[in-house]
Amino acid sequence: MVARLTNLLTRLGQKDLDRPFIAPSLLAADFTDLKTELKRVESADLLHLDVMDGVFVPNISFGPLVIDAVSKVTKLPLDVHLMVQNPEIMIGDLAKMKVQAITISFESGGHLHRHITQIKKSGCLAGIALNPGTSFESVVALLPFVDLVLVMSVNPGFGGQSFIPEVLPKIRMLHNYRKDHDKHFFISVDGGVNEKNAGVIVQAGADILVSGSAVFNQKDATLAIDNIRKNGKSRL
Ligand code: DX5
Ligand code: ZN
Repeated sequence: MVARLTNLLTRLGQKDLDRPFIAPSLLAADFTDLKTELKRVESADLLHLDVMDGVFVPNISFGPLVIDAVSKVTKLPLDVHLMVQNPEIMIGDLAKMKVQAITISFESGGHLHRHITQIKKSGCLAGIALNPGTSFESVVALLPFVDLVLVMSVNPGFGGQSFIPEVLPKIRMLHNYRKDHDKHFFISVDGGVNEKNAGVIVQAGADILVSGSAVFNQKDATLAIDNIRKNGKSRL
């Protein structure tokens, strides 16, 4: 448990020099050949895994079974994004796998603080995801407890949507909050992220850029990762 946290925290230092960290989203991969797809994104920093239950979002993706299989063929730290009602039923199983971070959705409601505590006790980093329509103010009470805030820059459920630029002020508010309150949670941005908008997103304060189609749908995924990283860094 401790080893996996140290592993992620070492890779994801808080030093500006290391930002941004690139997390390809497996949702955009070719599911008939996952092993090859995982090899294509080896140069990334994290692997983002979108779990969708068809209830919280109008789509079903994959669950712990696939994540367990993936964990055996990638060295990347696993960043699990739960778009499900009742995330607590999965946390125990995921924590037994080689998963470093588990993010639950703010809008799934319920006992969010309890679930965040459950994730942290299981040895993983705990994240909270915010839909584009959820304000910075609504999540302030949870900020002292989380290790990561995932700002959704599209409505969750599908890959390949366009980035909603109106979320940029929310990223800035989170970044200012952590500076003012000496907090160290990561800010991750997910949805429509590509090499063109990486710069403004990092400038607003993002540490982790999640990108599905702008990585997996490119002929050269390594080059796509490099370009997103390079353009992100250019605005630091
Ligand atoms: C959307 C998912 C995203 C998605 C991003 O609900 O949370 O992680 O895979 O895909 P792109 O980068 O294609 O918008
Ligand atoms: Zn996601």
